[in-house]
Amino acid sequence: MSLLIKNGEIVTATDRYVADVFVKDGTIVGIGKDLAAQGAGGTVIDASGQFVFPGFIDPHVHMELPFMGTVSADDFEAGTASGLAGGTTCIIDFCIPARGQSMLAMLAEWKSKAKKSVADYTCHMAVTGWGDGSAEEMRKVVQQEGVPSFKVFMAYKGAFMVDDGELYHVMQEAAKLGAIVAVHAENGDAVLHLQRELVAKGCLGPEYHPVSRPSSIEGEATNRALTLARLHGATAYIVHMTCRESVEALVRAKLEGQHCYGETCPQYLLLDDSVFTKPNFEGSSYVMSPPIRPPHMGHHDALWRGLANGMLDSVGTDHCPFTFEQKKMGKDNFTMIPNGAAGVEDRLQILYTYGVTEGRFDLQRLVELGSTNPARIFGLYPRKGTIAVGADADIVIYDPSTTGVRSAKTHFSKADRSIFEGFKVKGQPTTVIANGRVQFANGKLDVERGAGRFVARKPTPRVSPGAEQPAALRA
Ligand code: URP
Ligand code: ZN
Ligand code: ZN
Repeated sequence: MSLLIKNGEIVTATDRYVADVFVKDGTIVGIGKDLAAQGAGGTVIDASGQFVFPGFIDPHVHMELPFMGTVSADDFEAGTASGLAGGTTCIIDFCIPARGQSMLAMLAEWKSKAKKSVADYTCHMAVTGWGDGSAEEMRKVVQQEGVPSFKVFMAYKGAFMVDDGELYHVMQEAAKLGAIVAVHAENGDAVLHLQRELVAKGCLGPEYHPVSRPSSIEGEATNRALTLARLHGATAYIVHMTCRESVEALVRAKLEGQHCYGETCPQYLLLDDSVFTKPNFEGSSYVMSPPIRPPHMGHHDALWRGLANGMLDSVGTDHCPFTFEQKKMGKDNFTMIPNGAAGVEDRLQILYTYGVTEGRFDLQRLVELGSTNPARIFGLYPRKGTIAVGADADIVIYDPSTTGVRSAKTHFSKADRSIFEGFKVKGQPTTVIANGRVQFANGKLDVERGAGRFVARKPTPRVSPGAEQPAALRA
């Protein structure tokens, strides 16, 4: 099967130029001027006036995640299809064992659920406790299973949360393995106490969710995670950063020479905490952790500037939708509202519109934040994350001349609410190619259940100057 994309403007993290792209058997095999279709039966797409982006990679999604007494609403098939419609051709999900459960056993379960994906996928392995076999399991996860990134939750006490001693061990082992540690940074003990005190006072509505998780406790946890990473020379990747305090902790670490990364999500850039006060329990649709922040106090500016100046490294979505019916589990108590919202389909249009066309960063940076950096950081590059000969033919053709409006009525996700409802967007993906096949064109999906592949990765060890652990303790 061959595919020729003609006359589009190719945009990578470093370049913009007009050329043709020739694809054969799922791989980019030629880039140049006036390429001719080779072989009979090939498809030719005229991309004149449109951008040709590498497929976007979402480094942070949760498909069919069992969480807070229910399961996130998009399964792997629906969630990856929703991603394709939004220009995301590869996802990094999370495999989350219960405390005490084997990582390898959970990975087998996760793989069997994920195999219905319509686009390529991989996962971060969550470590939710520490025992005698944990270090050896981490080694096998990296070296045998091709999963060189871990995840720790510093919040959700009694569920996924690890304590500082456990975090210490994860950072230590990850450093030895050259693996990355992704961190949900919030002080889970403080959250639990704030929640209990609010509930005891009768503060039960969704508007109290952000009150129970102030930005200071996110900043504190970010600093603590980075400190423990630094102790061992581990590479930390702070997920879904929402606030100034957290960005400041990351910037401090980077300025001190520590090798670390930061991710934010579109909702933290564009929404503010007034969403929680929407009437008729609609505020519950925005309940996620960490919460959406107030408009003052410089949170939004800190995030946008971090994206522009290189202090933040990527934009994921934390796609984790729950239907309104599911959200009603917390109608009498905000602490029971399942945390999460949809976003995998919105990211590209939102970032193009509010990032690029509003002059906050340029097109190459858009590609870097949403595709190339996730690929580089998590060991998918150069197979993914760029348009180059030899790379997977994951390609998004984007027409910048159109306008539209994001809505749950028109998105493909199973979520019945959109946190970007009514947001005006400029441009749209007109054709999305994954593995060399057109999977989305002119607003319609044409996907095949199970066509996505598990992508095994190798560690990408980086020198992380500033390891503070005494040499006598190092292996
Ligand atoms: O509220 C959120 N973010 N739900 C998904 C789980 C997580 O913390 O990433
Ligand atoms: Zn999280
Ligand atoms: Zn998440």
